[in-house]
Amino acid sequence: MAAAATLTGWRNAVRRLLGAGRSRNPVSRSLSETRTVTLIPGDGIGPEISDAVVKIFDAAEVPIRWEERTITAIQTSSGQWIIPPEATESMNANKIGLKGPLKTPIAAGHPSMNLLLRKTFDLYANVRPCVSIEGFKTPYSGVDLVTIRENTEGEYSGIEHVIVDGVVQSIKLITEDASRRIAEFAFEYARNNQRSTVTAVHKANIMRMSDGLFLRKCREAAENAKDIKFTEMYLDTVCLNMVQDPSQFDVLVMPNLYGDILSDLCAGLIGGLGVTPSGNIGENGVAIFESVHGTAPDIAGLDLANPTALLLSAVMMLRHIELHDHAKKIEAACFETIKDGKVLTKDLGGNSKCSEFTSEICRRVRDHD
Ligand code: NAI
Repeated sequence: MAAAATLTGWRNAVRRLLGAGRSRNPVSRSLSETRTVTLIPGDGIGPEISDAVVKIFDAAEVPIRWEERTITAIQTSSGQWIIPPEATESMNANKIGLKGPLKTPIAAGHPSMNLLLRKTFDLYANVRPCVSIEGFKTPYSGVDLVTIRENTEGEYSGIEHVIVDGVVQSIKLITEDASRRIAEFAFEYARNNQRSTVTAVHKANIMRMSDGLFLRKCREAAENAKDIKFTEMYLDTVCLNMVQDPSQFDVLVMPNLYGDILSDLCAGLIGGLGVTPSGNIGENGVAIFESVHGTAPDIAGLDLANPTALLLSAVMMLRHIELHDHAKKIEAACFETIKDGKVLTKDLGGNSKCSEFTSEICRRVRDHD
């Protein structure tokens, strides 16, 4: 019974996560239905880019009420690090969140709050569409792929210990359940987004047991998804082929660490983390959408940040909650602004402030009405 519920949960999650312009049957909510979404502005440039998204959503009259929450690490008396209870309660109630970047101390203090969020809400699938943006020149054109990363285990399970002084062991945890869940998610995602091929990325030639198990679950999922082509490729071969010709890839599914690295590489192909959206998807519609760049402390508070990544993540969120018309309008206004090239932030090759770029998108959103 529990397994059946889980299966239905992820199927629904994938159905909601329809990619840009690819939905088979876009269903728009009635405008009168206002949805509450947890907004976590984050640190550094987070508040500036969140403010930009809120303004653009206002211009598009998106029926969303934001519930703003701060994420700071809290340590309990037993030494455990947790998310502030107000943020957890808000996410539990609303199911959907939009999150800016969070600062993580290196090799000390609290653990990554991003990891803690994924664990707390079992956000097992990280989905990152990487699609070339018309008019924004990079060394690559025609990139149109999606990385799907297992988000809950692998090298990021947090199991590390000192064996003897000077020797540290870190455990890569791969389970049958998590591998099956992400593999099935990838095929379902491909099917629902009219994509033709899923490639499993692995190193089962070296990590025969752990990656071997992951790969086996991908092969089994492929057996049950004959309408989607399945290929498998070593991580190093994917990297080589990716920089030579990214157009050969469609949907790629992989364990946690490989996904962390490869998804950033793919973001680089289309212009970097400033323009790449991302969604972390869990069971039963729970999801947090986030920009994947950091807090950019060097430009924080200077009105220089590019809000595109967070805005496009918010567009993914709108599709997830089936507000397809609003998603389409905002995405079009953002891409037109970039293509037009007159009002661009510095990282996009322009001289405009974050607030000017935001106003330009708002103007175009209103023109679409
Ligand atoms: P970063 O992404 O913050 O900055 C790298 C470079 O990219 C900087 O020059 C920055 O100005 C620029 N940049 C990043 N986002 C931009 C945007 N939207 N518009 C214009 N320029 C942008 O990476 P860094 O410096 O390694 O990390 C800074 C902090 O962010 C650290 O505390 C790190 O832990 C955290 N971080 C958080 C992430 C998250 O919450 N998802 C992801 C990566 C880093």
